[in-house]
Amino acid sequence: MEQFKGQSRLPKFAVPKRYDIRLKPDLESCEFAGSVAIDLDIVGHTRFVVLNVADLSIHDGAVSFTNKNSSKVFQPSKVEIFKEDDILVLEFSVTLPIGLGVLAMEFDGILNDKMKGFYRSTYVQNGEKKNMAVTQFEPADARRCFPCWDEPACKATFKITLDVPAELVALSNMPVVEERVDGKLKTVSYQESPIMSTYLVAIVVGLFDFVEDHTSDGVKVRVYCEVGKARQGKFALHVAVKTLELYKEYFAVPYILPKLDMIAIPDFAAGAMENYGLVTYRETALLFDEQHSAASNKQRVATVVAHELAHQWFGNLVTMEWWTHLWLNEGFATWVSYLAADSLFPEWKIWTQFLDESTEGLRLDGLEESHPIEVEINHAGEIDEIFDAISYRKGASVIRMLQSYLGAECFQRSLASYIKRHAYSNAKTEDLWAALEEGSGEPVNNLMNSWTKQKGYPVVSVSIKDQKLEFEQSKFLSSGSHGNGQWIVPITLCCGSYDVRKNFLLEMKSETLDLKEFLGCSTAKDKLAGAGCGGTSDESNGISTWIKLNVDQTGFYRVKYDEVLAARLRYAIGNKYLSATDRFGILDDSFALCMARQQSLTTLLTLMGAYRDELEYTVLSNLIIISYKLARIVADAVPKLLDSIKQFFISLFQNSAERLGWQPKAGESHLDAMLRGEVLTALAVFGHDPTLDEGSRRFHAFLEDRNTTLLPPDLRKAAYVAVMQKVSASNRLGYEALLRVYRETELSQEKTRILSSLASCPDPNIILEELNFLLSSEVRSQDAVFGLAVSMEGRDTAWTWLKDNWEHISNTWGSGFLITRFVSTVVSPFSSFEKAKEVEEFFASRSKPSIARTLKQSIERVHINAKWVQSIQGEKDLPAAVKELALRKY
Ligand code: BES
Ligand code: ZN
Repeated sequence: MEQFKGQSRLPKFAVPKRYDIRLKPDLESCEFAGSVAIDLDIVGHTRFVVLNVADLSIHDGAVSFTNKNSSKVFQPSKVEIFKEDDILVLEFSVTLPIGLGVLAMEFDGILNDKMKGFYRSTYVQNGEKKNMAVTQFEPADARRCFPCWDEPACKATFKITLDVPAELVALSNMPVVEERVDGKLKTVSYQESPIMSTYLVAIVVGLFDFVEDHTSDGVKVRVYCEVGKARQGKFALHVAVKTLELYKEYFAVPYILPKLDMIAIPDFAAGAMENYGLVTYRETALLFDEQHSAASNKQRVATVVAHELAHQWFGNLVTMEWWTHLWLNEGFATWVSYLAADSLFPEWKIWTQFLDESTEGLRLDGLEESHPIEVEINHAGEIDEIFDAISYRKGASVIRMLQSYLGAECFQRSLASYIKRHAYSNAKTEDLWAALEEGSGEPVNNLMNSWTKQKGYPVVSVSIKDQKLEFEQSKFLSSGSHGNGQWIVPITLCCGSYDVRKNFLLEMKSETLDLKEFLGCSTAKDKLAGAGCGGTSDESNGISTWIKLNVDQTGFYRVKYDEVLAARLRYAIGNKYLSATDRFGILDDSFALCMARQQSLTTLLTLMGAYRDELEYTVLSNLIIISYKLARIVADAVPKLLDSIKQFFISLFQNSAERLGWQPKAGESHLDAMLRGEVLTALAVFGHDPTLDEGSRRFHAFLEDRNTTLLPPDLRKAAYVAVMQKVSASNRLGYEALLRVYRETELSQEKTRILSSLASCPDPNIILEELNFLLSSEVRSQDAVFGLAVSMEGRDTAWTWLKDNWEHISNTWGSGFLITRFVSTVVSPFSSFEKAKEVEEFFASRSKPSIARTLKQSIERVHINAKWVQSIQGEKDLPAAVKELALRKY
């Protein structure tokens, strides 16, 4: 039996075809009893059947295998569970006959409180705390509910039957075929599912309300939620119906199940889970309250729904063959959710917000401790950690890059044929490339391998000399080190106008482009003289117009311009010649280059000054994030410059703050509504007194009347943060008032809004209280992570707190992916080598597989910050530049 230990995949001499599962959860004792009959195809001569099990007790005496042909029954001579490998090995005394048979088992387990497997979630009904039973199986926890071949490629059909209290709602992937009430219990049986992977099986049992609608071709769609909240499900319902119709067209295959249920679960580790036909969500990602939810909450609901429904095709109908190809699921669903959101809500300009995805992908992938998109997985315990920005955000970004290279129409056609070809089956990354290669005639496989099989990405340096552009690619690392690697980079560039454009593949280390040839000698001048082309007075190179690479930021790489080109771009930004996405990209690349010490902070700050009249949400939003990060690094590097730098940032955002005002305007755009909140929050964080006063005034009006028009949801975060800036151990009123609002509200979005605002307090004593509050029973364990991003002043307190409470934290969150957030959020903000060492020492005896990668990445970030601090300290002209920028009137 030992030969089955330590294997990454199950042996395949028995293949499951159909599961007949019966489960009886007891919501009071939090236990469940179950039985399963698995139709198996024995395809190899074996005396062993090996399958997955975790935390279940198997009734040894009730295990049997019945051959279908002969009806002969085989009982195992030995039943053994290997805990470290989550496997159950059944040993028979004779070789099992080749062909079909049924493996039957009985077992029981516990409805755990770890938000995985078959678990309990709690809610309050009429003042009484109740349990519900919920499943979360991805990536590898179906084995905690029933014995199974728990790998995505082992697809089978599922016939599920539940014995539950008669008054409860019991849902599963398929519609109910029969419900029989017997006293206090009822037996509910569901239609048999099409073939699918184990990680997509789902069950929910509890008390719920719902709202319902139909798609144009008759799929019944419901949104379930806590009793009394049904109205909050209407927005998601609308999005779901429209999105199903859209995907049916886009993938050229209809949604194959007769119904789609979506349900809000009060305790939920991820944001949402795409179980086939029964999608589960955090409340914040599904429910929208017209009165108390913010515009950003609305957008979150729409994109999460669109993401999970994309999986119904990409993931559920066509499934990754193994977790190495997880990115196919997640990267693709992330990308396509933007397509859906853009079609439903064009006014959100959601593609401009896609840059948040790529920039986070670039940020993580700029670390030496990153990993390739396609990553080897040897053990189930390693899967959790790859649900990260590489699989999601880099994955989505390289898909976007490819789509813009191949063209939208060709891309869609090829995708449809990929879906058709692999429906009800599995696929690998190269299967997608093959379909796209056939559809486009382009060498997709070759091109994309350079992006998915090696970690990292290039920075393309571009310089201008004698009317020639010189391009050179090298690996970008945030540490500033030189790395190896070469990519096939789809270069796009514009010269003076979005009509003067060139695309080519940079396959070599370097390449040269003759501008005169590209522009055509005689027409060049005319083109460049055209309206809005933005030529500067810099004539030293003959052609003096701006040149922007990575047009609209569709490529997953950084660009480093030489001094001349950079100056022209600054000019073009100031004069609004560039699109919002390009303005975002130039800023973001410059920030990354500054962190990697390839560009001075003075240069970056000067560039930021060019954004003084910026109006666009996505650009300002990133400008704000960058200014938060810079304020922190300057506080460590040159503390005496902090006030001036804050002054500079305040002056940068003041224009927009004045344009937007505090009071929402009738009929204003979704983006302005979101922007107002972010700009005012930034002003509060940087200590802008009028904003602090106004925020506090409006907060007090809100305390008097929760429906006051003075504090609509989009403004609340700003007001909460403003209030928390003044809270201290001797002035606790604001803190306590916010805790009161937290305790009173039933809206999960409000609770998380408050948790993230409390942490912005500059007083370490309050931060400590806040952190301890996160561990109390008043905060659901799914939500604690929202309170970890503490102010700069609270950084050391948070680290000490993490150490003091590590055992508890590790026990509570250690078996899921939320634990990584504790490590990365608390550790990454530091910026000294001593602290990095201290962190290493603390975790030397405490690291475990589920945090190993995150820990290394966080420590790497601390090193990067430490080097950055040193280089900023060496910038002689910085103090004068900051003072000048801070004083300049915009
Ligand atoms: N398949 C995931 C859910 C998941 C995440 C399961 C991690 C197991 C581990 C789901 O499709 C998903 O991606 N959810 C996202 C939301 C999405 C909009 C990015 C999430 O949970 O954050
Ligand atoms: Zn997903």
